[in-house]
Amino acid sequence: MRSALVFGGSGQIGVPVIERLLADGWRVVAVSRTPQADRERLTWLRGDLQQAQGLPGRVDAIFSLGPLDHFSHWYERTAMVAPRVIAFGSTSVETKQDSADAHERDIADRLRAAESRIFAIARERQAKATLLRPTLVYGAARDRSLTEIARMARRVGFFVLPRGADGLRQPVHVQDLADATLAVMDADAASGRSYALPGGETLAYAQMVERTLASLQPPARLIRMPAPMFKAAVAIAHMFGKMQGLGDAAVVRMHEDLVFDVEPAHVDFGYAPRAFNPTDAMFSLSPKGTSFVA
Ligand SMILES: NC(=O)c1ccc[n+]([C@@H]2O[C@H](COP(=O)([O-])OP(=O)(O)OC[C@H]3O[C@@H](n4cnc5c(N)ncnc54)[C@H](OP(=O)(O)O)[C@@H]3O)[C@@H](O)[C@H]2O)c1
Repeated sequence: MRSALVFGGSGQIGVPVIERLLADGWRVVAVSRTPQADRERLTWLRGDLQQAQGLPGRVDAIFSLGPLDHFSHWYERTAMVAPRVIAFGSTSVETKQDSADAHERDIADRLRAAESRIFAIARERQAKATLLRPTLVYGAARDRSLTEIARMARRVGFFVLPRGADGLRQPVHVQDLADATLAVMDADAASGRSYALPGGETLAYAQMVERTLASLQPPARLIRMPAPMFKAAVAIAHMFGKMQGLGDAAVVRMHEDLVFDVEPAHVDFGYAPRAFNPTDAMFSLSPKGTSFVA
């Protein structure tokens, strides 16, 4: 029976990854800062990437589905033996490297440094490491982009975008990411490499939002307004402490294409993500707060 150590297993990508590991017969030890329920072949340890007690000395694979920079430092410190490491980074490493926002550039720099650190340590230890970089994630009602848009639109029946917010996007479903994580495990070609994991359809930002709004029960409308008017509306929202995540750089990016090539992941481990067909449930948190919709 193969064994795994999982960081970030309570997250929107982590939940389906652990489900896939268990379904494939793995024994899983997962680390969380909050109490989680053990199940057959799944043991939760309380801790984080600074400290976790009771970690196994050896596992077949380590999966990192939480903050990559913290994980890279943990990996540097640990004496744990693991022939395989699969860690999630982000396409932000590319899309934010030239951002006008210094904080966003810093995120990109830290992600890149963390990726390099992980590859260097894995090489020293003769372990095989693979970095996975998803695009915009959806599907578990826990993302901070489309679910956030759906949440606001449900309240008022519409959502507003500036004209020209037509940069291309490739939203990727959490289940496709979980399937990719397991597929990578046995793909030798993936050792020492980073892969973008885009969704299976490329569409304009406004089209992606419009389709999301149309999937809601009841559906909500997309309203498009001139960019200066939109900017003023966001500034007013910020004055009232709303839409804080929507900075100038994020608004500029709505007009930019963020498109990644699916081919390397397809060739090396058969990655074949689904098209973007959202449903209301993908943006509705279950009463337990752990909604996961395949
Ligand atoms: N969401 C996206 O659109 C997106 C896009 C590209 C890349 N990614 C990357 O994919 C990975 C997973 O993303 P996600 O959206 O599934 O994340 P998420 O839902 O926010 O979950 C992250 C998990 O990481 C753990 N975590 C957070 N901070 C931690 C810390 N300081 N120390 C230890 N554990 C910590 C949390 O576990 P506990 O609370 O249980 O400790 C949480 O379950 C991340 O590396 C993220 O950067 C996400």
